[in-house]
Amino acid sequence: MELQEAQQETVTLNNGVTMPLLGLGTFRLRGPENLIQAVDAALECGYRSFDTAFVYRNEGDLGHALHQLLPKYGLSRSDIFITSKLSPADLGPGACDACLKSLTELGCEYLDLYLIHWPGKQGWRSDDARNQMARDESWKALENLYHTGKVKALGVSNYTEAHLAQLLESCSVPPAVLQVECHPRLQQTVLVGWCKQNGVHLQAYSSLGCGDLLRDEEVCKVANIHGRTSSQVLLRWALQQGVGVIPKASTPTRIKENFQVWDFKLSHEEAEMLKGDGTEKRYCWDPSGVA
Ligand SMILES: NC(=O)c1ccc[n+]([C@@H]2O[C@H](COP(=O)([O-])OP(=O)(O)OC[C@H]3O[C@@H](n4cnc5c(N)ncnc54)[C@H](OP(=O)(O)O)[C@@H]3O)[C@@H](O)[C@H]2O)c1
Repeated sequence: MELQEAQQETVTLNNGVTMPLLGLGTFRLRGPENLIQAVDAALECGYRSFDTAFVYRNEGDLGHALHQLLPKYGLSRSDIFITSKLSPADLGPGACDACLKSLTELGCEYLDLYLIHWPGKQGWRSDDARNQMARDESWKALENLYHTGKVKALGVSNYTEAHLAQLLESCSVPPAVLQVECHPRLQQTVLVGWCKQNGVHLQAYSSLGCGDLLRDEEVCKVANIHGRTSSQVLLRWALQQGVGVIPKASTPTRIKENFQVWDFKLSHEEAEMLKGDGTEKRYCWDPSGVA
């Protein structure tokens, strides 16, 4: 199989690590056959980044698929970027062991990026003041792991500006990435600004509104103007402001479609159109109540 040249942009994180701006999301992608099909299509068209998490229960299948398919494309571990995340159940001093468990599942020597998945501990109330302590303990444990080289970059997910400010006050390794829900209907202007100011890369999840935004009238209008699909327009909207994306798709056709986003640009007016009437819509969980 011929290796397709990966034509895509990357971002240099605040610790010098290079990360592809577009990766394959794998939430709800499960089972060995499904992972092999998705990873095969992704590698073939140029994806070099994969986003998983302990709670997706697919780290083993993803690791196996990569192990099997990298040689087919003449690639090795260092050519790809793997992100995983700390389960909210493991928030606290056990973070280091949880990360090592993910590494074992994936069959990897190191992770390119490890994120704290959620600012609160599973089983605790959102307003429980101990959540902050558990986050701090996790981060300290992960900093130690980072210094061993088992994790090349550290980041957080679903943190608000307040959680981030607390983290910056106490950390010695600042977060390199913030992964949050972000799309034209939840633009996260405050967090985008905060990240720019503090040297943190913002990576969007649910860029397609979990599939819902693909049928949105304004999105379809802009797609028609460019002769593109809704999905390509939504991904382009993020990419052209330097926001990373990790769309999830199951079929090879969709996976390839989502990668063809490098050769067109939305105008300022088109980006404005995508806002719709400006009403915010969140498709996933809201972390603002987590103490
Ligand atoms: N950190 C967090 O808390 C968090 C939360 C949510 C997600 N994430 C990460 O972000 C990734 C993406 O988010 P998401 O999975 O919530 O949603 P998403 O990427 O916004 O949307 C995925 C949905 O869109 C459909 N789809 C994808 N490409 C398509 C195309 N070209 N045409 C038509 N339909 C298409 C998929 O269908 P099929 O699958 O049926 O093809 C799936 O139903 C996740 O997989 C995960 O890795 C992280």
